[in-house]
Amino acid sequence: MVAEHPDLDVLVTMAGIMRAEDWTTSGFAEGAAEVVTTNLLGPIRLVDAFIDHLRTRPEATIMTVSSGLAFAPLKVTPTYNATKAAIHMLSESIRLQLDGTGVAVVELEPPSVATDLMPGQKDSPFAMPLDAFVREVVDLIQTQPDATEIQVENVKFLRYGEARGDYDQVVATLNRLDPHGH
Ligand SMILES: NC(=O)c1ccc[n+]([C@@H]2O[C@H](COP(=O)([O-])OP(=O)(O)OC[C@H]3O[C@@H](n4cnc5c(N)ncnc54)[C@H](OP(=O)(O)O)[C@@H]3O)[C@@H](O)[C@H]2O)c1
Repeated sequence: MVAEHPDLDVLVTMAGIMRAEDWTTSGFAEGAAEVVTTNLLGPIRLVDAFIDHLRTRPEATIMTVSSGLAFAPLKVTPTYNATKAAIHMLSESIRLQLDGTGVAVVELEPPSVATDLMPGQKDSPFAMPLDAFVREVVDLIQTQPDATEIQVENVKFLRYGEARGDYDQVVATLNRLDPHGH
């Protein structure tokens, strides 16, 4: 990749999978391991593969992709939620290490968006239309070039429950409104 694109200065660790799990009965470990491998080890391996090149660029950006579910749990997807919380903390941590190197770390925190992430998600009434999400994200990146977290308005309900002091209500509402993970 670097040989073909020596100007490359942005890495977006976007790949992810989201699966419903039942932790009340054994048999979930194998699937959970796949979620951890893709959602957490994947970004770790990608940063490891690209960091030396990114540091050769005058300015570069690593964009990680967490989720509103890093900040409030959806009952049916425990491992997914945990990997996204890990991505949040990883982003916070490596930003400190990379301070002064010219490599910025920006965390994209999507709300529910109508994609193929989960079966039925594209048609979910709770999912934000993809076009509207992309427009708002691009607008935020353009208007707030120094932002460390990209948060569309729709994600703030989940993102700031603890700070607002309504975390318990956020968790209850999330799991009542959207019991199947959409
Ligand atoms: N949609 C949402 O509501 C939402 C909310 C919060 C965060 N996110 C995050 O946004 C990111 C993108 O998800 P999406 O909604 O766009 O879902 P998506 O349409 O299912 O896209 C997921 C992408 O990840 C790739 N991928 C999955 N496993 C992979 C693997 N082992 N190796 C390489 N690529 C792999 C898929 O590639 P293939 O097509 O080749 O399988 C696909 O391009 C994910 O990190 C997700 O957790 C999404």
